[in-house]
Amino acid sequence: MLEMDLTGKTAVVTGGANGLCNAVARAYGQAGATVCLVDIAGNIEEAAKALENELGRPVLYHRCDLSRLDQLEEEYRKLAEKCGQIDILFNGAGVQYREKAENFPYDRWKFVLDINLNALFLLSQLAGKDMLERNSGCIVNVASMTSFFGSEMVPAYSASKGAVAQLTKALSNEWSSRGVRVNAIAPGYMETKLTANMKEVNPAQYQEITNRIPEKRWGKPEDICGLAVFLATPWAQYITGAVIPVDGGYLGK
Ligand SMILES: NC(=O)c1ccc[n+]([C@@H]2O[C@H](COP(=O)([O-])OP(=O)(O)OC[C@H]3O[C@@H](n4cnc5c(N)ncnc54)[C@H](O)[C@@H]3O)[C@@H](O)[C@H]2O)c1
Repeated sequence: MLEMDLTGKTAVVTGGANGLCNAVARAYGQAGATVCLVDIAGNIEEAAKALENELGRPVLYHRCDLSRLDQLEEEYRKLAEKCGQIDILFNGAGVQYREKAENFPYDRWKFVLDINLNALFLLSQLAGKDMLERNSGCIVNVASMTSFFGSEMVPAYSASKGAVAQLTKALSNEWSSRGVRVNAIAPGYMETKLTANMKEVNPAQYQEITNRIPEKRWGKPEDICGLAVFLATPWAQYITGAVIPVDGGYLGK
């Protein structure tokens, strides 16, 4: 009998100090995994302690700036030392910058691509190598609705998330027969810090989006947790290379 149980597994969650990924870290912990948060946020220690109190057992954390691609290999070594074996890599850290495409500054473009795509690739490559050696592991990437359509005012974000969806398939094609499944969750419009200013910056767009969601509400961080845990368990053993929306029905409309 398969179990939705991650006891004995270690899950690294990038972006885990806040928002969606913090909820996923909690869910992995509740499913029995040892959790390590990876984030640049000033509240990472506090977030780890809060989770530790909730779970009643140690929660690891590693503060690092994923935009520093030149330092990623060294950061990964330190991370692997803290965690021991990394069984689940949840690539959730992400940033967004809103500007009209014609005015979009190249340094912002590069920054968004570096965090959302390049760091995700390098970290997957580093963790993936270790997983391939053991013939076992699971990577879950965070994609987006903009993995499916281009949206407006977020050209770098859309480009990065479109690429995350394709990279998920590309990695899966090479690695799934060697024990490493790679999938992506594509959250719909979720209430987090990342989207907090939408109501004020563009109330018309906020309303338009809400009206289009069949569930008639924006998602909450907890809404992606079931899928995140499921994908990491043997129940999902034949699911790989998939980009799965959790969007209250938005894409279907
Ligand atoms: N909120 C949404 O509607 C939504 C929708 C689709 C996809 N997503 C994606 O979900 C993921 C989480 O987003 P969220 O909404 O929870 O945002 P959030 O801003 O609440 O959390 C993002 C986390 O990533 C961390 N981070 C950012 N830059 C980093 C860096 N350089 N190094 C290390 N950590 C860094 C932040 O500190 C933060 O803790 C992102 O990949 C985002 O693109 C969000």
